[in-house]
Amino acid sequence: MKGVVLAGGTGSRLLPLTKVTNKHLLPVGRYPMIYHPLMRLRRAGITQIAVVTSPEHMGDVVNLLGSGRDLGLDLTFRVQDEPGGIAQAMALCENFVGGGPLVVFLGDNVLEDDITDDVAAFQAQLAQGGAAARVLLKEVHDPERYGVPRMEDGRIAEVIEKPDQPPSNYSVTGIYMYDSAVFDVVRGLHPSRRGEYEVSDVTNWYASRNLLSHGVLDGWWGDAGTLEGWHEANTLAEDLSYEELDA
Ligand code: G1P
Repeated sequence: MKGVVLAGGTGSRLLPLTKVTNKHLLPVGRYPMIYHPLMRLRRAGITQIAVVTSPEHMGDVVNLLGSGRDLGLDLTFRVQDEPGGIAQAMALCENFVGGGPLVVFLGDNVLEDDITDDVAAFQAQLAQGGAAARVLLKEVHDPERYGVPRMEDGRIAEVIEKPDQPPSNYSVTGIYMYDSAVFDVVRGLHPSRRGEYEVSDVTNWYASRNLLSHGVLDGWWGDAGTLEGWHEANTLAEDLSYEELDA
């Protein structure tokens, strides 16, 4: 199982904090933001990870992370030439992933939970020929900020991106597990109204075929991609430390 951490985008919602640096290098708690997804993947046993970022910030990201050795990781880097959405960034990792399943982690997602059990549940599903995609949900007070699931009989029938009238109080968090068919799915997508290849369209391909399962996060979760979210994430992650980094 391989990991993909998406750390591209312009960070425009955090300007001027992101005027000269990548959002994912800003501090969250005692670490640079991107350490959080990387360490959650590592704890789930996923150490081969591709990091996708923009040409302007690749130098800084590599300066911070190097080969990944100090974090116990084996990192690969991919350049997203221009911002074209999460699904487009994922597609850059097809050769790296090499035909197996993957966990995609948005680089601005910070969470308390260990995702080991969810990754194991996903692998068990695949081994039994079951659902080929899994997402993690979190109950939130402001679902309109996120991709929101519409539930039917306990399953996700559809994910609606930033709806005016959310069909539930859950966010689809930026942690997505897919089988290798995901790359064919991305090839079949059309850009959304904002001109991006949307991850929710990928997830909906699986949902509409009854191939999507989900877990629900118990602990706190934050998307640090807006000023409000970044402040929240800093408060939540204030005391969070990864013992792996002290070893
Ligand atoms: C993205 C996804 C959205 C998801 C969110 C989680 O939104 O498009 O579906 O709920 O990440 O962090 P963005 O933060 O890029 O607006």
